[in-house]
Amino acid sequence: MPDISDLSGPWWRTAAIYEVYVRSFADGNGDGVGDLIGLRERLPHLRDLGVDAVWLTPFFRSPMVDGGYDVSDYRDVDPSFGTLADFDAMLAAAHDLGLRVIIDVVPNHTSSAHAWFTQALQDLPGGPARARYHFRPATADGTPPNDWESVFGGPAWTQAPDGEWYLHLFDPAQPDLNWDSADVRVEFEGVLRFWLDRGVDGFRIDVAHGMVKAAGYPAAGLTGQIGLLGRRVLPYFDQDGVHEIHKAWRKILDSYPGQRMAVAEAWASTPQRLAQYTAPDELHQAFNFEFLQADWDDPAAVRASIDSCIHAAEPVGAPTTWVLSNHDVRRHATRLGSLERANAAALLMLALPGSVYLYQGEELGLPEVLDLPAQARQDPVWFRSGGSDPGRDGCRVPLPWQAGAPAFGFSATGESWLPQPPEWAALAADRSSTVELYRAALSLRRSLTGALRWHESAPGVLDFTRDGLRCVVNLSGGPVALPEGPGSEVVLASRPIDGGTLPADTTVWIFARTVSTS
Ligand code: GLC
Repeated sequence: MPDISDLSGPWWRTAAIYEVYVRSFADGNGDGVGDLIGLRERLPHLRDLGVDAVWLTPFFRSPMVDGGYDVSDYRDVDPSFGTLADFDAMLAAAHDLGLRVIIDVVPNHTSSAHAWFTQALQDLPGGPARARYHFRPATADGTPPNDWESVFGGPAWTQAPDGEWYLHLFDPAQPDLNWDSADVRVEFEGVLRFWLDRGVDGFRIDVAHGMVKAAGYPAAGLTGQIGLLGRRVLPYFDQDGVHEIHKAWRKILDSYPGQRMAVAEAWASTPQRLAQYTAPDELHQAFNFEFLQADWDDPAAVRASIDSCIHAAEPVGAPTTWVLSNHDVRRHATRLGSLERANAAALLMLALPGSVYLYQGEELGLPEVLDLPAQARQDPVWFRSGGSDPGRDGCRVPLPWQAGAPAFGFSATGESWLPQPPEWAALAADRSSTVELYRAALSLRRSLTGALRWHESAPGVLDFTRDGLRCVVNLSGGPVALPEGPGSEVVLASRPIDGGTLPADTTVWIFARTVSTS
């Protein structure tokens, strides 16, 4: 069994990876949409922040029905984001700054504007172009072929003009590919090589648990049961067949020099099933959403989520990953109830063993924007729920860089595809105090290599040591005494502290011995 306490080795095992939601990061041409030139210009911010890598959400050709997760050409840059030359220049600039770049790959579905889907609609029922997707015959009573539901709401089936049904686990504009088709497998291997040849350091695999569907399209209601994570076991998610695809992809990654890697966005019913995605011959990492979903009003549950994620990764020897926010969930400054608690959570996360994923803007303490006007919203979740679910636009509002500038420095013209709240002036990168906390923590974190050892602690307090770092998190709701002893010097606190008391919703790092901060 691999030694999980040995966290040295490839870069990704301990990396801090920063998610760039490209549309909302920085706009280089003033049209109000973030792009690759804007990203390149702002890369020094990420170098100074101290992250190791960036993950870019899809910037490929797309009608943008789902923010680019509806790809119509996997080998080209969407004109709203720039050109392939802009990508190459951005990648070279990132590498010059010592930043690695991983990019999204979206293999579960294409856009309905993809040439393959156009051909499929023109093909006859049962024809070869339809075989690349999941088409089912027209039904006598006009009801969908089964009870599968779209993640975005409503049935997962839509009728083509000739009456056949096609499957889309997300929006109707995102038809699911049929991974039993050799065309699909060959095409995606080519797509991976296209970007690896350009020099990307790896991939974030979208819906990595979804590509294979249970044979015969069995009803979800018949097989559904509650998994340990509260996720239902469904005939279209986490089917055993996906592992064969990931093994083939691992071989491709390993055939390139320079520690190329892949991280799965995978939802599985148990931590053990999730760990299968990171077996030594599969993907390098999988996102761990259990920590993100932990109930912060229940400190024991937060601790249990940490233990369960570390233990689930042990048998396969993969590093754990930690994430508090991303482009699909409510920003944690809002979700956890306060900026104080958000920063306490971040400082806890940054002390944990393994790799961390940060979402753009969390280093500024950005909250979710809850009051976007209906006419500004773009998320298909909002449309498919008839407006009852606000969707994910509130965590995708363009970043504020500079307090007094047009669009807070996001674009020179002041354009912004979603409106920024005026109060973000105080949170802009040139004003934010949270950014200093992240910088200091990311720097100190580089010295940490050891496994986590819990200490006995008062109720509501999480207290552990890694190497010389002691991390104390007060989630008890009231002040607690700080640990005392020689060398117990607080080197970092998620908010100012006074004397020997740790206020509620505060994390401190105490170093029992001197560590390098370089
Ligand atoms: C993933 C993405 C999400 C997207 C969905 C469909 O969950 O993170 O943003 O909507 O896949 O591609």
